[in-house]
Amino acid sequence: MAATSEALLQVLCSTGPSISHTRLCPNTSKFLVSTNQGLRFRSEKVKISRHKSYNVISAFHHGPIVSDRFMSLTCKCRKIDSVSDAISEKNDPLLKGDIATNGNGTFSSSLNIGGVNSIEEEAWELLRASMVYYCGNPVGTIAANDPSDSSILNYDQVFIRDFIPSGIAFLLKGEYDIVRNFILHTLQLQSWEKTMDCHSPGQGLMPASFKVRTVPLDGDDSATEDILDPDFGEAAIGRVAPVDSGLWWIILLRAYGKCTGDLSVQERVDVQTGIKMILKLCLADGFDMFPTLLVTDGSCMIDRRMGIHGHPLEIQALFYSALLCAREMLIREDASADLITALNNRLVALSFHVREYYWIDMRKLNEIYRYKTEEYSYDAVNKFNIYPDQIPPWLVEWMPNKGGYMIGNLQPAHMDFRFFSLGNLWSIVSSLATNDQSHAILDLYEAKWGDLVGDMPLKICYPALEGQEWRIITGSDPKNTPWSYHNGGSWPTLLWQLTVASIKMNRPEIAENAVKVAERRISKDKWAEYYDTKRGRFIGKQARLFQTWSIAGYVVAKQLLDNPDAAKVLVNVEDTELVNAFSCMISANPRRKRSRKGINQTFII
Ligand code: GLC
Repeated sequence: MAATSEALLQVLCSTGPSISHTRLCPNTSKFLVSTNQGLRFRSEKVKISRHKSYNVISAFHHGPIVSDRFMSLTCKCRKIDSVSDAISEKNDPLLKGDIATNGNGTFSSSLNIGGVNSIEEEAWELLRASMVYYCGNPVGTIAANDPSDSSILNYDQVFIRDFIPSGIAFLLKGEYDIVRNFILHTLQLQSWEKTMDCHSPGQGLMPASFKVRTVPLDGDDSATEDILDPDFGEAAIGRVAPVDSGLWWIILLRAYGKCTGDLSVQERVDVQTGIKMILKLCLADGFDMFPTLLVTDGSCMIDRRMGIHGHPLEIQALFYSALLCAREMLIREDASADLITALNNRLVALSFHVREYYWIDMRKLNEIYRYKTEEYSYDAVNKFNIYPDQIPPWLVEWMPNKGGYMIGNLQPAHMDFRFFSLGNLWSIVSSLATNDQSHAILDLYEAKWGDLVGDMPLKICYPALEGQEWRIITGSDPKNTPWSYHNGGSWPTLLWQLTVASIKMNRPEIAENAVKVAERRISKDKWAEYYDTKRGRFIGKQARLFQTWSIAGYVVAKQLLDNPDAAKVLVNVEDTELVNAFSCMISANPRRKRSRKGINQTFII
């Protein structure tokens, strides 16, 4: 039997006799097992959508079903004849307006925003209107809800990364069900066979997005069933891998536990297995020499070719944060001891690597400017063989005397000096950046306010790729033209990450000021997805309106500024063990000291 099947069987066997549930398990052969508790397991082919069927491991027993902790992936719904049926059937207190369908299988309250008093109230109305339902339960929010848009592409789906600010907004409002459902349903999708041209990448990958489809039930015209149809990137533009999805999922799971005080979700066997599968995928050995995660281009918020393949900062910050969150949530048991050791080692190596080699400020820039190259030795100062000529002319002018940041990417003989907001902000939130570095990043925001906040917060990256560089690096992408979209565009959703970071560093006024800038136009501009031009003056060329994470990002920023203490559910505080290990490594670093004496423990760096 495949290792996965064995692992899943162990999971299933430890769940107790009164539970009937299903758990997906790709690539397994069929099997049927009985336990001494009267439980039996079987693996069977189940049709998930019209074109796909999967092996599902089911546990069943002969006695009455006491509780059904696991949700199955298809649910048979009675055909809903009228909209009012749906309302009374759902009886959902969250739905105040009229019900309209949000594409197949989803419902949302249609807008009635004439009567709202504030931008915040309007945002809440819109956020509720973006809710997506599966079998009558809220499971996520649609990416954009723009009624005037004729080409929706995949903006009618629930994106994992886009849902994070929505989920946080609901958690902070005390509305927990949607987040719980989201966590559990996306977990169900995790193990689906993802195939592209007959290739199935590693298990544990979370989808980029999913759609709820309502389809007629086979052989029964009067009934329908809801289907969750995930996209792991195999349908996405450019076939990009959603590396960030699983990392965000872990971060949200921890926030759910912290907000609700209900640890029963994270302690569930299937959830623990889900965490471990994500970690195993991220910690798997490969050819890589660095502790940072090696990914292809477009594997995160920037999900198009933008020259961020390799070790982009955003993924590293999310990875670090997810490792810390997972460490907090994993139940200590013999079976997970090795994983936790691997996780701890990686945390130390990763923080050392990023803090040391990604960081730049005036001092470091000057050091790079004077680097010697072609150093062949274990204790080279210029480890990655960076040629000083790589320092771009714009940076020489741009770097303020006070302030600094983590560069976008580090590869052999290559530093990507662009400033990426999300990676830097999440380095602060997760404590991947040191305390001094975190303050320096915020200093940079203050010093470069016009460039990074401008007329609409927040620049996704700075500066834009132009001319020949744009042609070569983006492949002449007409959507990522200079100062548009991912190429130096401004994204209101990033407000919430700026808010968490500035609250963590006790400098909330930075976020307050950015929120004020956004409030001048965010509602008038119908909650655009992104803005173009150097200062973010125009609504983006192809920006969607009523983009949910622009709405949710604003809502979360407001909620946190009202109640800064709540930011704790997202923040990772550095623990002393890591600080100690880190200082051992610093003192062993040839840039500071060339001798290796004095370290008791060795870490791979
Ligand atoms: C764009 C963004 C991506 C987002 C998606 C849905 O592709 O680049 O980060 O998840 O839209 O909003």
